[in-house]
Amino acid sequence: QDDQFKKVISHAKEYGYVFQSSEIYDGLSAVYDYAQNGVELKKNIRDYWWKAMVQMNENIVGIDSAIFMHPTIWKASGHVDAFNDPLIDNKDSKKRYRADVLIEDYCAKIEAKIEKEVQKAEKRFGDAFDKAEFLATNPRVLGYQEKIDETLSRMAKSLGDENLADVKALIEELEIADPLTGSRNWTDVKQFNLMFGTKLGASAENALDLYLRPETAQGIFVNFLNVQKSGRMKIPFGIAQTGKAFRNEIVARQFIFRMREFEQMEMQFFIKPGTQKEWFEHWKETRMKWHLSLGMGADNYRFHDHEKLAHYADAATDIEFKFPFGFKELEGIHSRTDFDLAQHEKFSGKKLQYFDTEENKSYVPYVLETSIGLDRMFLAVFSNALVEEELENGTTRTVLRLPAVLAPVKAAILPLVKKDGLPEIAKKILEELKWDFNVDYDEKDAVGRRYRRQDANGTPFCITVDHDTLEDNTVTIRHRDSMEQQRVKIEDLKDIIKQEVDV
Ligand code: GAP
Repeated sequence: QDDQFKKVISHAKEYGYVFQSSEIYDGLSAVYDYAQNGVELKKNIRDYWWKAMVQMNENIVGIDSAIFMHPTIWKASGHVDAFNDPLIDNKDSKKRYRADVLIEDYCAKIEAKIEKEVQKAEKRFGDAFDKAEFLATNPRVLGYQEKIDETLSRMAKSLGDENLADVKALIEELEIADPLTGSRNWTDVKQFNLMFGTKLGASAENALDLYLRPETAQGIFVNFLNVQKSGRMKIPFGIAQTGKAFRNEIVARQFIFRMREFEQMEMQFFIKPGTQKEWFEHWKETRMKWHLSLGMGADNYRFHDHEKLAHYADAATDIEFKFPFGFKELEGIHSRTDFDLAQHEKFSGKKLQYFDTEENKSYVPYVLETSIGLDRMFLAVFSNALVEEELENGTTRTVLRLPAVLAPVKAAILPLVKKDGLPEIAKKILEELKWDFNVDYDEKDAVGRRYRRQDANGTPFCITVDHDTLEDNTVTIRHRDSMEQQRVKIEDLKDIIKQEVDV
């Protein structure tokens, strides 16, 4: 399991999907950048969600609200007073978790140093470089590794017993400061609020204290009446949005599973009070169907109904996915009652009511929420897709079996050789297909190696131009998963690809 997860992380880097943020400065913990392929996969997931939620539903519209919002919004929503990790319910355990994350950050920094040594050696030795051997024998790397092992085992011991002094001593010894704030102050409980603070305004005296939003949902609630009126929406209706959210997560060491800056795809569905049970079931089913439509295996999903509910909810369930480290929350479906709108009425002093023409009365609607992390969905798709296959001839191949609709590059066009006019034809095909799909051109190395490269990149089709093409305008189209090859007319390529990648 651990090995599979490590493979996922290194594959994501090697093939241009995800990089550690600020890597040349040893990285920033739990913050990541999406690379040339990652940004496409992420966009495709977002589009797939948007199409299912907004385009296909007449009564759901989208918005894009600002990340900066009036600070009172977070008082009304409960985030200022109650947005702590639910695991951390008393001062002592807060300290212990804080120690935990700092030590983890410390280990991550050492790991970054090891990675740097590897890169240096790779440069020096070129093709002759053997990473496994280097990691097992290089004295500097071994020294770093020892430091990590020692720190982790002491952390485990310290966190296992109740003696906080131990943890504090350990932190002092390691001289670790909070990587984000630089603070070494361990007594102020408020710093455990998960929201990031910032300031708005030019002069220090007049600056307004703001928070970076920890969820996109509140941007929807505060726009509820504007959208309802300007769009003449009738209940039941929904408002969807995707966008960045920020949380100063305490335990954050699972790649893009739990990040400090991440993206959410949320939808708030406004309903008549009393109908929340039906809508809760409806959205549970609808969202699960969306997941299953990607063909990633029904066994990899399960519901987890909440027994302990958040302050705003009267029912809640998670859709859990089988990540390389086990079943974990991927999406939340929450019956939020009228909590948020009623709070915003109270704090803003403005009425946030809907006039129901059928009932001939006004009320504060109830809300059903679906909320999924885009990065977490990315990890689900990516880790599920990465497989190493034994082939019949005894070799293995690494293949990224991404659902075709989500794959960053839909087809690679490959001239068999770099002469005889084949590159020119391949480029012509590229020029035609690029109006409809994200396509790639590759003429380097033997064609077998190019196929492997595209397999590992997740490209569903390879189109090979060879000498027969000159005669009859046909090409070979190779399917990533089955590795089957077909001879087809150039003019049919577009339809063949469309059939697989369109939803
Ligand atoms: N508006 C409700 C809400 O934000 P949540 O359960 O806190 O609910 C919803 O978050 C989803 O956002 C989660 O199911 C998860 O997929 C994603 N998410 C939450 N925190 C995250 C983090 N630190 N990194 C990545 N994704 C996160």
